[in-house]
Amino acid sequence: MQLLDGKYVSEKLKERIAIEAAEILKETGRKPHLVAILVGNDGGSETYVASKIKNCEKVGFNSTLYRFESTITEEELLQKIDSVNKDPETDGILVQLPLPKHISADKVTEKISPEKDVDGFHPVNLGRMQRNLPSFLPATPYGILLMLQEYGISTSGKHCVVIGRSNIVGSPMSILMARNADPGNCTVTICHSQTPNIKKFSLDADILIVAIGKKNFITADMVKEGAIVIDVGMNREASSETKSGYKLFGDVDFEHVAPKSSWITPVPGGVGLMTIVGLLKNTLASAKKEIY
Ligand code: GUN
Repeated sequence: MQLLDGKYVSEKLKERIAIEAAEILKETGRKPHLVAILVGNDGGSETYVASKIKNCEKVGFNSTLYRFESTITEEELLQKIDSVNKDPETDGILVQLPLPKHISADKVTEKISPEKDVDGFHPVNLGRMQRNLPSFLPATPYGILLMLQEYGISTSGKHCVVIGRSNIVGSPMSILMARNADPGNCTVTICHSQTPNIKKFSLDADILIVAIGKKNFITADMVKEGAIVIDVGMNREASSETKSGYKLFGDVDFEHVAPKSSWITPVPGGVGLMTIVGLLKNTLASAKKEIY
């Protein structure tokens, strides 16, 4: 078993991003600029957004955080997005999900200008991604591709089983792994909440990508000997053992699955750290006008 070490790879890639950000500053006199919008007080979202902002600083980007109470109306939020869309000093916009129930995540996602959609969630970017055209890739799937690339893992011809079909991870991940690209060129199976006998499929996976949001969902008996296992789970549980007051668990029973796998991501220290790299790379690409 070898570890897909998100800490090591993310630090290495962030060093490269910082060099490019410094070059942009030298050439244009400005830094890439990310605007993050956070609605409400969800504990997980607070942590993730704080980390995104901190990492912007680390690589030499500007960042702005707009915070709103969960009572903000949908119309007010859409107006805010509209004003940031029009701001020439902003390269990337993200609205942290989930949103309060009275706000439509679809409407919000579609309001963000595709040219600034560094989360890659806008239907225009998703469509372009599916067509293999230049686009912002959703940050978590992008981070996973970058990780596979950095470790030189070949995916072509392999059977990739994606567990979960969310808009943020499972659905775009399955498209990316099937694309005629490197990484990609896999035969892809998507399993979800209505799939009977997921084990039947997971046991056949050369690459198993798990994004279902259930602690220890994948057990050792569900994994083929020598599989590559990517755990996207971010299950937070209150804990008195940690300074932050919570502990993070993946969707995979790491202790028992790791000995069977050829490569595996830990949680924490795996995919989560790569998501931020995906976001930073998209913001850099936007500042350099590489996509649009
Ligand atoms: N919530 C969980 N993951 C993400 C993400 O990648 N971007 C945003 N905006 N919200 C999320």
